[in-house]
Amino acid sequence: MLEVEVSGLKFENPLILASGVLGMSASSMISAVKFGAGGVVTKSIGVRAREGHPMPCVVELPFGLINAMGLPNPGCEEFKEEIKKFKENCDAPIIASIFGGDPSEVREVARTLRDADGFEINVSCPHSDVTKKLEDDEEMIGDIVREVKKAVDSPVWVKLSPNVSSIVEIGLAAQEAGADAVVAINTLRAMIIDVETGVPILGNRIGGLSGSCIKPVAVRCIYELYETLEIPIIGVGGVTSWKDAVEMMLAGASAIEIGTAVMKDVRIFEKIKAGLKEYLTKKNLKIEELVGRAHRV
Ligand SMILES: Cc1cc2nc3c(=O)[nH]c(=O)nc-3n(C[C@H](O)[C@H](O)[C@H](O)COP(=O)(O)O)c2cc1C
Repeated sequence: MLEVEVSGLKFENPLILASGVLGMSASSMISAVKFGAGGVVTKSIGVRAREGHPMPCVVELPFGLINAMGLPNPGCEEFKEEIKKFKENCDAPIIASIFGGDPSEVREVARTLRDADGFEINVSCPHSDVTKKLEDDEEMIGDIVREVKKAVDSPVWVKLSPNVSSIVEIGLAAQEAGADAVVAINTLRAMIIDVETGVPILGNRIGGLSGSCIKPVAVRCIYELYETLEIPIIGVGGVTSWKDAVEMMLAGASAIEIGTAVMKDVRIFEKIKAGLKEYLTKKNLKIEELVGRAHRV
């Protein structure tokens, strides 16, 4: 009842673990699937190991979270074992989130992680020196997509930033370069200052805002992308309930990724699945009939 197909990949349900949350090891990604995720996206992986930004890296807010992790990861050579382990123990699709400073770096990561079922190119982390300069560069994003498409046979998604003048233009550049889908959105550039000390709290000062407060921005981005793009859109940003998931699908998302809410409760996938099923039954709709429905009224 909840099965979806996105860019040739089949998911048991449309709820996918977002990059950066539980995506560092095979065992944590397998646990997300056991708790109901239809698929997983790994932590973003680069060509070599990175430590990430100094602490504190995460600050919890009443309405979301600000993080400035800085893309810490073990590098693609070491991480490829986690993808192998995942695939030996789990049937759900695993998407490798990959990044790099130029097309050849990203291509190398994709080649090394070629056991993954698909790739999500991260050109949108707002607090990493590597991806920050890419997010608004249509030409460079196009070049990266073309290189990765040449290097792998599996579907290639591009994860877009909301911190740009036109997310639709960036989405179009990705589509024209051959991307199989876009993922919207990464975190919003944000910061927080301690009023007692007068000092910015995050080690990196600037971070990315996620969680329920960014959902209306994500819904708007998905809606705008759906109006123009022909490739599927995977929605992400602030989903905490089945209603949020339905809203994103109505705006045009073919599947949904969930990040911050999983940090609080990994059972969120099962809860949202149950709500989605009930909604579809009550409305007498098939899941695919939800996608973009808000554009038909
Ligand atoms: C702690 C943390 C780490 C993240 N790391 C990554 C990452 O490595 N790559 C990436 O593309 N997005 C990363 N994200 C962004 C999420 O994948 C997602 O796009 C964003 O948080 C919005 O969704 P959410 O509100 O459901 O969390 C991270 C988010 C958080 C909260």
